[in-house]
Amino acid sequence: MSGLRDQLSSALSRARRRTDALTECVDDADLVAQHSPLMSPLVWDLAHIGNQEELWLVRDVGGRDAVRSDIDELYDAFKHARSTRPSLPLLAPNEARRYVGEVREKAWDVLDASRFRGRRLEENGFAFAMIAQHEQQHDETMLATHQLRGGPAVLTALPVPAAVTPVREREVVIPAGEFVMGTSDDPWALDNERPAHRVFVDEFAIDTVPVSNADYVEFVEDGGYRRRELWSECGWRHRVESRLEAPQFWLDDGSGHWWRHRFGVLEPVPPDEPVMHVCWFEAQAFARWAGKRLPTEAEWEKAARWHPASGRSRRFPWGDDEPDHRRANLGQRHLGPAPVGSYPKGASPAGVRQLIGDVWEWTSSPFTGYPGFAAFPYREYSEVFFGGDYRVLRGGSFGTDPVACRGTFRNWDHPIRRQIFVGFRCARDT
Ligand code: AVJ
Ligand code: FE
Repeated sequence: MSGLRDQLSSALSRARRRTDALTECVDDADLVAQHSPLMSPLVWDLAHIGNQEELWLVRDVGGRDAVRSDIDELYDAFKHARSTRPSLPLLAPNEARRYVGEVREKAWDVLDASRFRGRRLEENGFAFAMIAQHEQQHDETMLATHQLRGGPAVLTALPVPAAVTPVREREVVIPAGEFVMGTSDDPWALDNERPAHRVFVDEFAIDTVPVSNADYVEFVEDGGYRRRELWSECGWRHRVESRLEAPQFWLDDGSGHWWRHRFGVLEPVPPDEPVMHVCWFEAQAFARWAGKRLPTEAEWEKAARWHPASGRSRRFPWGDDEPDHRRANLGQRHLGPAPVGSYPKGASPAGVRQLIGDVWEWTSSPFTGYPGFAAFPYREYSEVFFGGDYRVLRGGSFGTDPVACRGTFRNWDHPIRRQIFVGFRCARDT
């Protein structure tokens, strides 16, 4: 039991160190500013992190008095659209810092007192793990806000490892058959990952690495953005209206060379990195140009989890062990994805690399509940998004913490979004 308590407290502490780092490296004016209408001011994310922790850990699990009973509505993501949040009477940066600190002090008492059983919310420490995942998800969102803000670089991290080993094959075939998708027994899995269920998947081929910038430049230079036939009807309309010509943050220097902004640094587009900041429509057009398609969500998960020798579905491509930095680029250890062909130790049995970490990957699938889905502990985490125009993203990025990343983890966004750390890989019918 104390093992579980230690795991939960280190996940919560790690999230807080990251939140602090993301909010201490800019001044107050920057914290309250809106860097993009798609994003909240950083100070909203900060207090919202504390408010969710107060609602679930302090009040619900702990049954304790409110730290602040007057601000729930301000920090309810469903009450105010992101674009309107800067004009709300938000807690000032110092008030927000004090608030999240007070909530955390109480949450530590609640963690000390929990016996991790009784109510389902407390079983296996679920509520604490959910709150650690929630904070890390907002940390990744804040990292995307940092990418959108102008001005010089304020974040630092280790350079990505240089240990690329070329893949033997560009794509591999995954045989037809059933596999177990989702999970019923991963104690910290969120509601949309549940329950485990068998899915039949036809034979398909999937790329062993994500699409690189060099691959994507070929598409751009072959007129990919001008060729109507490569785009779906919605995709073409969006491309024209939004004048898409290249990934977000790319600049053409006029002499045929591509540059990009990354966290306040302007640099030539590195050819070997996975392409990032493309919307689902761009990914789809690229795939069509390449004579391929995006993988379905089930194909992606089978490629990542299905173990041919045992027929079991595992937590990660390499097995059931937790991720570490030799296997995957996670947790903002680096400030970008590693070159395609990195992390051979993180490959699946079939040789598919970088499924976990580096960049989120678009799949072709809309976001819905699995058969037998039950919202837990609140409908607004997943269920209210089912049936919208959202597409499923898989695998996590360099900005995703391991606590919020596994072979079953499901993320989703609108098909026009590109500010997230997203790329893709291709698949095809055999
Ligand atoms: C799962 C990343 C789409 O950021 O909107 C944060 C996660 N849910 N607070 C989001 C989330 C509630 C969610 N995504
Ligand atoms: Fe949230």
